[in-house]
Amino acid sequence: MAMAMAMAMAMEVERKRVCVTGAGGFVASWVVKLLLSKGYVVHGTVRDPKDEKYAHLSKLDRASDNLKIFKADLLDYDSLRTAIAGCAGVLHVASPVPSSSVPNPEVEVLEPAVKGTLNVLKACKEVKIRRVVYVSSTAAVVMNPNWPKDQVMDESCWSSKEYCKATENWYCLSKTEAESAAFEYAKQNGLDVVAVCPGLIFGPVLQLTLNSSTLVLVKLVQGTYMQLVQGGEDSVPNRLRPLVDVRDVAEAVIMAYEKPEAEGRYICVAHAIKTRDLAEKLRRLYPDFTYPKNYSETQHDNKLNSEKLQKLGWTYRPLEETLIDSIESYREAGLLK
Ligand SMILES: NC(=O)c1ccc[n+]([C@@H]2O[C@H](COP(=O)([O-])OP(=O)(O)OC[C@H]3O[C@@H](n4cnc5c(N)ncnc54)[C@H](OP(=O)(O)O)[C@@H]3O)[C@@H](O)[C@H]2O)c1
Repeated sequence: MAMAMAMAMAMEVERKRVCVTGAGGFVASWVVKLLLSKGYVVHGTVRDPKDEKYAHLSKLDRASDNLKIFKADLLDYDSLRTAIAGCAGVLHVASPVPSSSVPNPEVEVLEPAVKGTLNVLKACKEVKIRRVVYVSSTAAVVMNPNWPKDQVMDESCWSSKEYCKATENWYCLSKTEAESAAFEYAKQNGLDVVAVCPGLIFGPVLQLTLNSSTLVLVKLVQGTYMQLVQGGEDSVPNRLRPLVDVRDVAEAVIMAYEKPEAEGRYICVAHAIKTRDLAEKLRRLYPDFTYPKNYSETQHDNKLNSEKLQKLGWTYRPLEETLIDSIESYREAGLLK
C-alpha cells in the first residue's frame, strides 16, 4: 500500500515537469508563471539566456527552485531535445509573430513556425512525451473564404493555405501550416497533440519589451493603427476583433494539458468587439489618450465560437478588467506614458 502510494506520488511529480518553448515571450511568460504557481517544474527555452529581456522570468515566484532555462532555437533540433528530455509534457508556444511586413517570409516566419514545430514534435516522440499542447491561433481558422458568411466559425473551420498565400498573409499561413503539420505528425506517430487557437491577445505584460498584439493596443490609444494583415488603408478598419486575455489563454493552455479528455483544437476567444467600440470603451476609461478619428467599414466580419473550450471548463474575465490591467501594466513597464 505504502509502495503503491509512493509510486503514485512519484508519477505525479514526473507528470508535473513540463517544457515551455519561447518561455520569455508575452504568452509563454504567463504560462510559465501559472505553471510555477501550480507546483510544476518548468524547463523554459529561450534563444539567448544572457539577454536582459528574459530577466522577468527569474523574478517569478518559485522560479529559483522550479524554473530551469535552456538555450534552444526552433531550428536546432538537438537544443530542443536537451530541453525536452525528462519532461512529461511540452507546451509549444514559440513562433515568430511579426509586427510589420517581412521581407523574407520563408526564412523569417514560415520555417521557424513549421519546421520548428516539427522539430519540437520529433523530440517529443523520442522522449516519449505524454501530451503536447501547441499554441496555434485563430489565424489558422478565419482565413477561409468558402465558409458560409452567416455561420459562426468553430473548430472545423481551417484557414485556406492558398488564400493566405494569395493575400500574402504569411503569419496566418505559418500558423495554418504549423498546426495542420502538427496534427498530421501526431496521427502518423501516435503522439497526443492538442491545439489552442487564441484570438487577439491583450492583457498585462510580464516582459519589458513590446510584442505584436500589445503594440496593437498601445497604438490604438495613441490614435494610430497597426496592421497585422495586409490592407493598406489610412483609416482604421472597423473590424470585429476576437479578443482574449493573456491570463485566460494561459489557463486554457494548461487546461488543455491537464484534462485527459482534451482533444483536437480549441478556439480561445472571450469577446468580439468592433475596433471603434473598443476605442470608445477605452476612451470612457482613459479620456486623456488620443484615439483614431477615421474608420473604414469592413465588408464582412468573422464570428467565432469557444463553446468547445468552455465545455472543458474554461471561463474568462470581463473585457474592462483586461483593458485596465493592460494599460496599467504598459505604464508600469514603461511601454506607454
Ligand atoms: N499575441 C497574440 O495576439 C497571439 C494570438 C494568437 C496566437 N498567438 C501565438 O502565441 C504564441 C506566442 O506569441 P506572443 O504573442 O507571446 O509573441 P512573442 O512575445 O513575440 O513571443 C514569441 C516567442 O517565440 C520565440 N521565437 C520566435 N522564433 C523563434 C525561433 N526561431 N526559435 C526559438 N524561439 C523563437 C520568441 O523568442 P525570442 O524571445 O528569442 O525572440 C518569443 O519567445 C505564438 O505561437 C503566436 O502565434 C499569439
